[in-house]
Amino acid sequence: MSQLELITEIQKLKAEKDALLLAHTYQNDEIQEIADFVGDSLELSRLAAKSPHRVLVLCGVHFMAESAALLSPEKTVLLPAPEAGCPMADMADAETVKEWRAKYPRAAVVAYVNTSAAVKAVSDICCTSSNAVKVVRSLAEEEIIFLPDRNLGSYVASQVPEKKFHLWPGFCRTHHQVTVDEVEKVKRVHPEAKLLIHPECRPEVVAHADFVGSTKQIVEQVAKMDASTFIIGTEMGIIHGLKKRYPDKRFYLLTPKLVCPNMKKTTLADVAAALRTLQPVITVPEPIRSQARRCLERMLAVV
Ligand code: 13P
Ligand code: SF4
Repeated sequence: MSQLELITEIQKLKAEKDALLLAHTYQNDEIQEIADFVGDSLELSRLAAKSPHRVLVLCGVHFMAESAALLSPEKTVLLPAPEAGCPMADMADAETVKEWRAKYPRAAVVAYVNTSAAVKAVSDICCTSSNAVKVVRSLAEEEIIFLPDRNLGSYVASQVPEKKFHLWPGFCRTHHQVTVDEVEKVKRVHPEAKLLIHPECRPEVVAHADFVGSTKQIVEQVAKMDASTFIIGTEMGIIHGLKKRYPDKRFYLLTPKLVCPNMKKTTLADVAAALRTLQPVITVPEPIRSQARRCLERMLAVV
C-alpha cells in the first residue's frame, strides 16, 4: 500500500472505531502528521485520562501506552509497535525499589513516568520531565528516592537543594551519550544560537544550556526567546514540529546521535494494522493497576 493509501485508511478507520491517535514528539514525521495530537509525556497522559474516545492509539513507547491503560481502563489502548520499549524504563524493577525503600524508610519514592506499571505500583508519586521539580517540591518528605533517570534526578536536585536525593543509576541511552565536546563544537559553529536542552542529558551538558526543559517546554520556550537560531538538545523528532510552528527560525540538532530507535519503530502500516484489528491491546492486571494508577493520579493532582 502506498503512503497515501495508508493515510486514507487510517483516517477512515479512526472515525469508524472512534479512535484518538496520540503521538509523542519523538515520533517519525509522518506519524506526527497523521496524529490528532502530538505532545510530551505529561500531555499524552492528561489527554488519555480525559479523552471521550473508545479507542486510544499510542504512537510512542510501551510505558506511554501502559500509562494510558492505567488512567483509562475502560478504553481499548493500542500500541501499534508493541516492541517499542524504553531501555531506561527497563533499568528499574519493583524488587529493587522495595529494597531502596527499606534502606531509606523516610524517603518518598518519585518515579519518572518512564517506568513500568510494576515500578509505579511500588512508588509514591510519578513525574514527567515537565513537572518533576514541581512534584518534588509538593512533597512533605525531605528525602527523595528519584528513579530511574539519574540525569533528570540531578537536575531536580539542583533545583530543590533543600531536599536530600538518592538517585537511581538509570539513564536514557539517547540523551546520555551527548558530550560537552559536542556542545562546545556546535556552539563554535553557531555562536549566536540559543541552546535548549532536555534534562535527560548529563549534568555537565545541561550546565551549558540557555534553557532546560521537557519537549513541550522547549517548543514553548522558542517563542519566548529573542533569538532566531536554536540548538536543540533532545531527540530529533522534535525538529519537525519546531520547523512547522516557527518557519522563520532555524533549528540545529545538537548532535545527529540524538535518535531514539524505539520511538522510530512505529510506521503508518503499524497504525493502520492496529486500527484494523484493534490489536495489540495494552492492559495492566490487578492489583498492579490500582496501585500504579494511584501514583499517576497523585501526579496529575499536583500539576
Ligand atoms: P518528555 O516527553 O517528558 O519531554 O520526555 C522525553 C522522553 O524521553 C520520553 O521518553
Ligand atoms: Fe526512553 Fe530515552 Fe527513548 Fe525516551 S528517548 S523513550 S527515555 S530511550
